[in-house]
Amino acid sequence: MQEKILVLDFGGQYNLLIARRIRQQHVYAEVKSYSGITLEQIRGEGYKGIVFTGGPNSVYDPAAPHFDPEILRLGIPILGICYGHQLLAWMAGGGIEAAENGSEYGRVTLRSSGGVLFDAVPAESVCWMSHTDFVKSVPDGFIVTASTKNCPCAAMADDERNLYGVQFHPEVTHTACGSQILHNFLFKVCACRGDWTMEDFVSKSIESLRLELSGKNALCALSGGVDSAVAAVLLHRAVGERLTCVFVDHGLLRKGEREQVEQVFRRRFQMNLIVVDARERFFTRLRGVTEPERKRKIIGEEFIRVFEEEAKKLGKQDVLVQGTIYPDVVESGAGNASVIKSHHNVGGLPDRIGFERIVEPLRELFKDEVRAVGLKLGIPEELVMRQPFPGPGLAIRVMGEITEEKLTVLREADAIFREEIVSAGLADAPSQYFAVLTDNRSVGVMGDARTYGWVIALRAVSTDDFMTADWTRLPWELLARASSRITNEVRSVSRVVYDITSKPPATVEWE
Ligand code: XMP
Repeated sequence: MQEKILVLDFGGQYNLLIARRIRQQHVYAEVKSYSGITLEQIRGEGYKGIVFTGGPNSVYDPAAPHFDPEILRLGIPILGICYGHQLLAWMAGGGIEAAENGSEYGRVTLRSSGGVLFDAVPAESVCWMSHTDFVKSVPDGFIVTASTKNCPCAAMADDERNLYGVQFHPEVTHTACGSQILHNFLFKVCACRGDWTMEDFVSKSIESLRLELSGKNALCALSGGVDSAVAAVLLHRAVGERLTCVFVDHGLLRKGEREQVEQVFRRRFQMNLIVVDARERFFTRLRGVTEPERKRKIIGEEFIRVFEEEAKKLGKQDVLVQGTIYPDVVESGAGNASVIKSHHNVGGLPDRIGFERIVEPLRELFKDEVRAVGLKLGIPEELVMRQPFPGPGLAIRVMGEITEEKLTVLREADAIFREEIVSAGLADAPSQYFAVLTDNRSVGVMGDARTYGWVIALRAVSTDDFMTADWTRLPWELLARASSRITNEVRSVSRVVYDITSKPPATVEWE
């Protein structure tokens, strides 16, 4: 049986990170909200261990998230982190208080006195704290195993019952020995084997999809992005000919994108691929539209319409395949329910076309895991490692009204910028990089003559989560080469600028 750890979520901002750190140690972990799972379900799932996450509340606040204290008597090892540490202490009869000297926040020196969680951890190390409340008195049966200057109980242990708590965050990289501490919990306390691998995931998924979808027809909308590509290839390995993929060319793709999709899916994997040339339709609907949100809405609606028409032409399709990944599922707070990416192109479809159901083969995986699966399936690296590209495509990178001319100029400039970054060996340095066609023209001079051409902006950002981002400090020489090539090779561009705004206050995309 697949061994797994439950990350019981009490509202902490690092809940996903905890699951990811555990998986990096080859133990499968899943996040469930404290309100989305019962004691009975936990008992029935056969978890090897449970982690209580952090959270923004104070345990003594009656409105704070709590859990049935019987969980401590299930015999399953528990590790409480931050709020989870306080909650564990509180449930077991300990005392929690607000710190007199205010909160501890950031890097703090941790002194440990040993114990199984601190095996192979130096007596003094740096940990990362973020709390106001602290455990004042440890519950019966527990001993303090670490402290900091302001936190007398930075870690506690009850080896008898396999209950452990840490006030700091072992999942963040600032905690020097965080992964060793998690390792100790997983392998020394929970006795995990650590045999969860991507190969296993791939072969088990194919096998179970094969059984589950026996005799059924499946339809998948390819967006050109990583998630739908990996989901489609996985499905193809399970049901072969019975999968049809639809790729809508809305005319807002980057240079060479449609050809790449055809090359990979039709020629390399020999999949049933329908490429719909809907450029004219989208273009007509977008004519005269300048407002960014309006552009997004039109594109979303039109996409659904095109996809729906194609699906109807194909006759009965039993299931719709979607590339939903784990952060989409958890962030939407949907727990066990099926989630459809509304943001991406196919929201609202299933009801209208009458699929039996949706299949989401990647809903347990993080982005880096999806990429690993993609590589294992033989999808070319340039597609698997590709930077994110927004559903509305170049429409939100052409400021103002979208015209064929503006799109052509942007496509060429963007291709040059991408080429230069790749040939400088920096393709992995920024998280996302692209060109934008501003709605401005500026005066220039070329061969003694006055020009009046477009202003192209280049954007490259570095970020972990795209919620905040900094502009990437690309080498000047690289920017110089890109600028010179764009102004020389792309007709009607007179000026190139580099965007040096972080997010916030700006966003990654210009519209
Ligand atoms: P912003 O501009 O919001 O971008 O800072 C953050 C990330 O989201 C992508 N993005 C979108 N993706 N549909 C999408 O599928 C959209 O409407 C959309 N808007 C922004 C953007 O490319 C970046 O990766």
